[in-house]
Amino acid sequence: MTKSAYFITTPIYYPSDNLHIGHAYCTTIADAIARYHRAKDEEVFFLTGSDEHGLKIQRKAMEKGIKPIEYVDAIIANFKLLWKRLNISNDDFIRTSEERHHKVVRNVMQKIYDAGDIYKKDYEGFYCVPCESYWLERQLVDGKCPDCGRPVEKMQEESYFFKMSKYEDWWLQFIEEHPDFIQPASRRNEMINFVKQGLEDLCVTRTTFDWGIPVPFDEKHVVYVWFDALINYITAIKYGTNDDMFHKFWPASLHLVGKEIVRFHTVIWPIMLKAMGLEMPEKVYGHGWLVVDGDKMSKSKGNVIDPLGLIDEFGADAIRYFLLREIILGNDGNFSRDALIARINADLANDLGNLLHRTVSMIEKYHNGIVKNAGKEEEIDKELETLVKTTVDEYIKYMDAMEINNAIKGVWALIGRANKYIDETTPWILAKDPEKADRLQTVMYNLAETLRIVAISVAPFIPDASPKIFTQLGLTVPDQFLLKNAFWGRLPDGTQVQKGDPLYPRIKIAEDGDTIIGDKRYEGSSIQKDAMVNPVQKAETAPPQEITIDDFMKLDLRVAEIMDAERVPKTDKLMKLKIKIGAEERIIVSGIAKHYEAGQLIGCNIIVVANLKPAKLRGIESHGMLLAASDCDGNLVLADAPGISSGSRVK
Ligand code: MSP
Repeated sequence: MTKSAYFITTPIYYPSDNLHIGHAYCTTIADAIARYHRAKDEEVFFLTGSDEHGLKIQRKAMEKGIKPIEYVDAIIANFKLLWKRLNISNDDFIRTSEERHHKVVRNVMQKIYDAGDIYKKDYEGFYCVPCESYWLERQLVDGKCPDCGRPVEKMQEESYFFKMSKYEDWWLQFIEEHPDFIQPASRRNEMINFVKQGLEDLCVTRTTFDWGIPVPFDEKHVVYVWFDALINYITAIKYGTNDDMFHKFWPASLHLVGKEIVRFHTVIWPIMLKAMGLEMPEKVYGHGWLVVDGDKMSKSKGNVIDPLGLIDEFGADAIRYFLLREIILGNDGNFSRDALIARINADLANDLGNLLHRTVSMIEKYHNGIVKNAGKEEEIDKELETLVKTTVDEYIKYMDAMEINNAIKGVWALIGRANKYIDETTPWILAKDPEKADRLQTVMYNLAETLRIVAISVAPFIPDASPKIFTQLGLTVPDQFLLKNAFWGRLPDGTQVQKGDPLYPRIKIAEDGDTIIGDKRYEGSSIQKDAMVNPVQKAETAPPQEITIDDFMKLDLRVAEIMDAERVPKTDKLMKLKIKIGAEERIIVSGIAKHYEAGQLIGCNIIVVANLKPAKLRGIESHGMLLAASDCDGNLVLADAPGISSGSRVK
């Protein structure tokens, strides 16, 4: 039997404490990818779980005066609750304390021992308990763990070693022959450099504590926690107990892991597999970390964010959307409550929510809720239809390349286009003219059809929304949103829409900073009141002065590419942008720092007033002004021109 299905894994999390938003980030990515592959009609096995053994957990339990298993049982109940509330669609949850796992680990250990790749030797070196990793003195940085910077412990004990060094040449050759195995490429280079410094044999058993799996050939030893944990990936697909299942899913399609554990997954794990005579996983992707307001999360800093609290407040879709849209997968990304609220209001409530609400309301008002394509096609319809097709094609391309944020951006560009299509086709004017009745039907059909395809595409990211969109469109909610149905023209004539609640309620910030969602009030928004004051809105209250076309022509509006962006120190609003207008480079300082992270801006093509006189802002000469739209709720979106080359005129 050959592999026929998609097998994706998250790391198995340590139940030393409840999970935070960083862990939720990793599992959300994996879930979106798993759902995407199901949408491609592939059989998928999506695995997550808990890594329960080792010194760290044993000590935590001892501090509480309870047995390790009692300690972890309580925490794992919370893991499972979180994954349920976050709409995580894992097919299995593996616990390394389970009998099924113990059996496989003992078999693997025995097999490698029998093959002569495990030998006994006294260990002397250092150990980082939080990372559960061994270090040699020369590897320490200022005497501390090079991965997490925390103090290490000196240890000396009788151990068994795994002959990693024997596989060094094989590993280097394997990596050279499989350039896509470690992604992104920066992590691959790190790993090659690490291995080229020389691979040491790995200590794979411990004797100074007993919370682990007993070593089959020497029962006073327990298996080293990482050696035990990595094997979870094959336990769950029944290695050694069900060959059909194992060969259907192995080798794994993707191990998704955080950047600090890439080494375990791309060096130790492949060598273990090689020693077992098993095939290598297809890909290991090391994603970046989620930091909070620019800072690493830690209990001592008091900035650990509980994802369950956020889900209570904003809903699972909103958290998932934010994490997937805001952060470029391989890079570190920032979580901020302000940015989350801005995204919910702009992208979910405004763009998507409004498109659905406007479409369904108009179909109810003009056509008693019945959708029909009357065939009165115009050029603008063809353009929308073509955009739907290219958006789906690009979406598939981006998702396959793990560029999730770009896939989402593309769908939102389509949503934006559909909202503009309403403004341009002016259904309210068509409705007044009986001769335009067919045209109005077609416009409404096109909007409903666009929304149907949007609902299918966004299902991996915001799985609560897609069924709601289908229900409001009057469509039967499928068990699975399949991409093969994301083709234009599948919406049947005669479909009866039904207006429902707004997809996402807008979030308001009260005078005292509380968050108000619908009729609920939540304490403690960090959005400052002054951020809500909106200069554009203020100006709109005065009647705009009329200008002539000659006045307008005085403006030199240009497409500019953002080359670099950084916040202006000691301000919370100003961002310094290095832009390129054609071949010319300039600096612009703009008050957008509350709405965009620097990383989001780089590479975007925006629209600038190029012939504005330079002015100094906070001592920086700013030459030009960018265009942005903002509303009375404090949302701000840059006017952009994706795909149009820098320097082009905006007319
Ligand atoms: N138990 C090991 C993994 C064994 S896999 C065979 C472990 N557990 S962990 O709980 O410490 O971390 C699990 C994952 O969570 C890691 O991939 C780690 O990168 C990720 N994250 C922990 N904090 C994170 C952020 N702040 N941001 C993103 N991911 C984070 O390591």
